[in-house]
Amino acid sequence: MIGRLNHVAIAVPDLEAASAVYRDTLGARVSAPEDLPDHGVTVVFVTLANTSIELVAPLGPESPLAGFLKRHPAGGMHHVCYEVDDIIAARDRLKERGARVLGGGQPATGAHGKPVLFLHPKDFCGTLIELEEA
Ligand code: CO
Repeated sequence: MIGRLNHVAIAVPDLEAASAVYRDTLGARVSAPEDLPDHGVTVVFVTLANTSIELVAPLGPESPLAGFLKRHPAGGMHHVCYEVDDIIAARDRLKERGARVLGGGQPATGAHGKPVLFLHPKDFCGTLIELEEA
């Protein structure tokens, strides 16, 4: 069911500093920051030859990243995003198999303007999974 790895997301406390690490130290192509107020985050994308890295920082005091960064003040790997052809079919299949789909199972619009869903880390080897309809 899952297809390509779309991106790996790294939560960071300081997006400008993290962008500089990827751009200047690692020599990667880093996008301009984009605020996603519906998700309470600001993101940049690092473009690699075979996938992307999403650097994600809190936007506003209610950000869902606040707790994560409290536990990981230097930042850390936050989620992996896999592509699926049909997000509703993917959701229904996962629910049938007992997986917990976050946010009531309703797809939200993700950073690429496409429908996304998040899956509970306890059901997936301790990793938060994002599904994006490719
Ligand atoms: Co993501």
